[in-house]
Formats: sequence, structure tokens, C-alpha cells
Amino acid sequence: MFVHWGLYSLAARHEWVKYREELTDEQYQVYFDHFDPDRYDPVQWARTAKAAGMRYVVLTTKHHDGFCLWDSALTDYKVTNTPHGRDLVGPFVRACRAEGLKVGFYYSLIDWHHPSFPVDGNHPQRDDEEFKAATADRDIRDYQRYLHGQVRELLTDFGPVDYLFFDFSYAGRHWWGGKGPDDWDSPKLLEMIRDLQPHVLVNDRTGIPGDFVTPEQYQPSGPMTRNGQPVIWEACQTLNGSWGYDRDNLDHKSADLLVRMLVDGVSKGGNLLLNVGPTGRGDLDPRAVAALGELGRWTDLHERSVRGCGPSTYTAPVDCRYTQRGDRLYVHLFSWPLRHLHLPGLAGRVRYAQLLNDASEITRTEIAPGEPVLNTQMGGQPAGTLTLQLPVQRPDTPVPVIELFLDTPSGS
Ligand code: GLC
Repeated sequence: MFVHWGLYSLAARHEWVKYREELTDEQYQVYFDHFDPDRYDPVQWARTAKAAGMRYVVLTTKHHDGFCLWDSALTDYKVTNTPHGRDLVGPFVRACRAEGLKVGFYYSLIDWHHPSFPVDGNHPQRDDEEFKAATADRDIRDYQRYLHGQVRELLTDFGPVDYLFFDFSYAGRHWWGGKGPDDWDSPKLLEMIRDLQPHVLVNDRTGIPGDFVTPEQYQPSGPMTRNGQPVIWEACQTLNGSWGYDRDNLDHKSADLLVRMLVDGVSKGGNLLLNVGPTGRGDLDPRAVAALGELGRWTDLHERSVRGCGPSTYTAPVDCRYTQRGDRLYVHLFSWPLRHLHLPGLAGRVRYAQLLNDASEITRTEIAPGEPVLNTQMGGQPAGTLTLQLPVQRPDTPVPVIELFLDTPSGS
């Protein structure tokens, strides 16, 4: 579970509100002055994540607006100076650990508040000529020290951290003055991280390769590669297009779509990092809780078709996704056909088949190649096809799964 939470949660209209509305520090200060999440309950967050089938939680310790959720010694722009007055990161870490979840920190490389962060086309004050003139001598190296210092704090003050999500590099992208690995001194940053916590997984957005790549708000069309080599990937996805709490945004994905996204990702060797944007009081949005609840009902019954599974070397039929672990091949049906599902290449390779939700047997036939198609007789299947006999009634679950026990393990 990804958690985007900060001052922008009070504006409740997207975490980029400061940029979008070109708000000055003074205008944005109102959210700092009213930040008091009286209902913050990280244990509840962790339990909700776990019940949804998630096994790690990634919190925005600092987003682009520069506001810090922990008591950083390097800035005053932090939660301990708001009406809330207390660190939020420590309780989060303890809650995750208590629930047996891994801990992840998101940290924004971009900083719209820091006095040494050079203004660029991706900054709230990008059109403010006076501001730009007054800040023209900003030196990124001062900011670089701050950034490295803060990452050091995050990796020394909260015990073991499992995962770091930096966000993001944009040298050469359409914004003028874009910044990248030279500006962050990413090689040195990575060196320090490896030194402090050798086991932490780091994403790729410092602009130099990390441990995994991070497609955002799209589903890759197959296993991902870099220079022809497979890479570990994790798609980060929103529930409604916004990362931060966005009260009036109604573009919510159905639970059905969310399950399909999870399955689709695993069938391509990837992982899903699904976001929630808690409210300014610290509650998970009820709409998020409902979606995660449905996701949890599906994973509860179907966990073994995704966890620890990867792509199969078999090619799935239309509207299906395959995942595989050893001799188990899982057929995920994105649509429910009439009575028969034809699986190319699987004839003679399956020793048993069942619906995963209730372990009810699925019987199988092999239609002899060349068999004609007659009024009431199926035919016309290529050699090697295995045909499953499905009930007319589709199981009442977002994505039904058939578990195939293969004779000989093949594929990965
Ligand atoms: C983007 C956005 C940001 C969000 C992130 C999550 O880069 O700038 O708001 O935190 O993606 O992946």
C-alpha cells in the first residue's frame, strides 16, 4: 500500500495543488497552520493493508511541497511545528512492524519549499518573474546536502527500512531547468544508502538504476526489460487518478478492475503498489476502505494464484491471464465464456483442475484435432488443446481462477 499524506490532504484537491494553482509559500501556509490529524491511527492503516493482501506500506515522508512528516533536525517545515506537534513516521513504522509488514519510505527529490531549490518549469513559482529574479542565485549543492542529510536521518532514526521510493528525476523532460542524477548526486546518495542499510530496495527515480523500475498509472504490456535484460518492476497505481486525498474526484476504479490490474501485473512478472490518500484528519477514505475490502475478499480466496507466482511460458487464451508457480498453473478469467475454455498446448499436461474459490473439480476433454464442427459438437481446435468444462454460473468473485496441476513443471 502506497500512502500519500501531507499538507495537501487538507486542500483535498490533489497533491500537486501548490503547483497547479501556483500557490506561494504564504498561501500554502494555511494548510501547515491547520494540520492536526486527530484521527491518525497507523495501526488501522496497517491492518487495512494487511487484510487487503498487501505486505508492505510506503509512506510519503516528504512530498514535492517539502513538508516533512518526521521531526527532521534539518528544517522547521515539519509536522512537529504544526498544531499536531508530534512525529508521524515513528508510529507508522512501529504499526507496520507490529502487523508483520515491511516498511517503505517515499521521499521527494523535488522540493517546492526549500530555499536552495532552484526554480524550474516544474515549480509553483515558475511564472513569477519577481520570485525568479530574487532566487536566481540558488545553488543546488546546498539543497543536495539537505537531501542527503534527510535521507540519512530517515535511515538512522527509524530502525530497519525495507524500501525507498525517490520521486523524481526530470532532466531533459519538457519542463525547463529539469533536474536529474547530477543535481541530486545520485551515485553518492545510493552509496550512502547502501552503506547505512545494505538490504533496502531502492527505486529507479534518482535517475540511475536502482533495484526495481516503477511504471506509473499504466500497465506494462509484458515483462519489463532494460537493455534486453529482465528487470524487477512494480506498477504504482491510484484508486482514482489522484495520489493525495481528492474529495470531489469520483473517478474510482472498480474492485473488479483493481483485481484485474493485480493479476495482470503478476502475469507479467510485476508487483502492484496501490495508493490510498488519507484525509486531513488521518482517516482512510471510506471509498478506499471499501475497495481494499473487496480486494481482500478476493486475495483471501485466491492468494496462492498471485503470491510468489510469476509469468508462465504457456500462452493464455483471450481474456485470460496465466500465472505459475512450479507445477501450478493458474488461469484467471477476465470474462466468463459459455461452458468451455480452450487452452492451447495443455493437452496431456494437466493431471487435475479445480476452481480455486471452492476447490470444485473442473472436468476436461481433449477434442481430437480435425474433429468437424457440427450442430451440437465442438471441433476445430488445434492439436494439443485442452478443453475445460465450466459451469454456466460464474463464481461470484471479481476474477474467477482455475488451478491446474501440471504433470511436468514447465515455465517459470
Ligand atoms: C508522480 C507524482 C507524484 C506521486 C508519484 C507516485 O511522480 O509527481 O505526485 O507521488 O508520482 O508515483
